[in-house]
Amino acid sequence: MYVCLCKGITDTQIRSAAESGASIREIRDQLGVMTECGKCACLTKDIVRTSRKESADAIGYWAVA
Ligand code: FES
Repeated sequence: MYVCLCKGITDTQIRSAAESGASIREIRDQLGVMTECGKCACLTKDIVRTSRKESADAIGYWAVA
């Protein structure tokens, strides 16, 4: 699903970046989300939080970044 229509970025791309350990700021810089109209900001942050929680649940603890 497209999350950022301005840059054509999908939830899969955001999730992949988050699972690689990228911060929201790094995801913004790398993918360009949240750099135009900003309407994708809330959903992008939700995807990153969910991805991190799922990763932490999978390994059994929260990584400190
Ligand atoms: S929808 Fe992402 S910056 Fe506009």
